[in-house]
Amino acid sequence: MSLYKSISLSSLTDARGGLIAIESYKNIPFDIKRVYYLFGTDITESRGYHAHKNLKQLLICVSGSCEVTVDDGEGSEVVLLENPDQALLIEGLIWREMHNFSEGCVLLAIASELYDETDYIRNYDDFISYSKQVKEGLDECHS
Ligand code: TYD
Repeated sequence: MSLYKSISLSSLTDARGGLIAIESYKNIPFDIKRVYYLFGTDITESRGYHAHKNLKQLLICVSGSCEVTVDDGEGSEVVLLENPDQALLIEGLIWREMHNFSEGCVLLAIASELYDETDYIRNYDDFISYSKQVKEGLDECHS
């Protein structure tokens, strides 16, 4: 099973340029509660280094490019975001890191919840322990 979903956003492009609309339950599978963006990121910097307990999130490079590493504790994948019509949907317990920001990169994040620091897991070992607990809980439910 893949660690993320890639969503191809339909672009309304004409002679004037492009336009992409994102609407809850039309082209993304959650209610939008928060939008934020990362910009002016130094190309030598990386960001993220956390997982979320409940948050669903869509990441789009509306300008420039960056790489997102997604990791479920058992394996990881690197996704290159380089087009404004390419969205990366992250759901469930996934550790994410953002690397290799291009000059002028603007990374848009669309989130299913308001900002809540208690939803974050910011330590990788805690993420692994929490993931194991959740999986054991699910296994018990299914046995
Ligand atoms: P941080 O989680 O470190 O950003 P990233 O994971 O992208 O590297 O967030 C930086 C700071 O901004 C931190 O103090 C939390 C705060 N913050 C908000 O207040 N609201 C938000 O929606 C987000 C994403 C972060």
